Amino acid sequence: MTRVFSGVKPTGHLTLGNYLGAIRRWVDVDQRQSDALFCVVDLHALTVDHDPARVRRLSRQAATLLLAAGLDPELCTVFVQSHVDEHARLSYVMECVATDGEMRRMVQYKEKAARERERGGSVRLSLLTYPVLMAADILAYGTDEVPVGDDQTQHVELTRDLAVRFNQRYGHTFVVPRATRPAVAARVMNLQEPTSKMGKSDDAAPGIVYLLDEPEVVRKKVMRAVTDSAAEVVYDREARPGVANLLEILAACGGGNPEDLSGVYESYGTLKKDTAEAVVELLRPVQERHKELCADPAYVEGVLRDGAEKAREMAKPMVDSAYRAIGLLPA
Ligand code: TYM
Repeated sequence: MTRVFSGVKPTGHLTLGNYLGAIRRWVDVDQRQSDALFCVVDLHALTVDHDPARVRRLSRQAATLLLAAGLDPELCTVFVQSHVDEHARLSYVMECVATDGEMRRMVQYKEKAARERERGGSVRLSLLTYPVLMAADILAYGTDEVPVGDDQTQHVELTRDLAVRFNQRYGHTFVVPRATRPAVAARVMNLQEPTSKMGKSDDAAPGIVYLLDEPEVVRKKVMRAVTDSAAEVVYDREARPGVANLLEILAACGGGNPEDLSGVYESYGTLKKDTAEAVVELLRPVQERHKELCADPAYVEGVLRDGAEKAREMAKPMVDSAYRAIGLLPA
């Protein structure tokens, strides 16, 4: 059976981008068709300036939202990264396979490091080595497929390179994984800045739809989305990014494709109105279930405890064999 692994980072409230780009497929496809693990990758949240209490709160919220979105612990394994030591254990070994040049070439590193420096802050070493920890997350489980949005493709490519290099140098150990992406909405854009990704830790909150936004807030954000001054509704990602983004969101909510939908609309107003309603309806059941789960924190904790136990059992043999292969003395 295909092994799937993916994760979300608790650096902000989860967004419509996270949902359409990744989580929804985990729920609808991956957990049903594969042997799948989904992880709240809290160690990754420590790579930028952070507030410990907020990371803890967001980790709990992310786990609750994954369950609210429909991940079913009977079908898949849901857990928190820091509960399974194997991630950090393997990360160090992968640091001995990766090079600093490779790390510095990562687009997300360059962007985030530049942002930290602009703010007058310093760049944590862990921000540079982040992709190695991500590779360890994936490789520890013998993962075949990594369902992610577009922005993670480069990290998964690096993971493949590291796996191949390790296998060539130290003997076949790792499965070489591949990224999978959704047909539409692999890169949901910020509604106010449609040439930038809708990212959960961005400052441009009016352009970000959060999974827990009230319906009225969702409507307001979508209705105020930046478009352009042209009159016709045309799907063109390059020339008309704002409209293209709305068409992709609408298509992803209801099925269908953005190109076809562009022919259905004569004005931006109706396109926005329908998109807003589609998003509200998409989020409604997730929000309702989230409220129920918040009233039962013991259930969520139990799922995470069981998940970590299962994950640990799956990862340990792989990490042990990587330790042996690279030359470490068995304990
Ligand atoms: P993160 O937490 O930024 O995002 C979680 C998932 O959501 C996708 N995503 C988007 N998809 C479409 N449009 C968007 N605007 C959008 N924003 C986010 C991401 O592509 C991702 O699939 N490094 C990862 C977390 C991670 C991971 C892993 C993922 C750590 N280890 C191992 C897979 C496997 C990250 O920061 O995701």
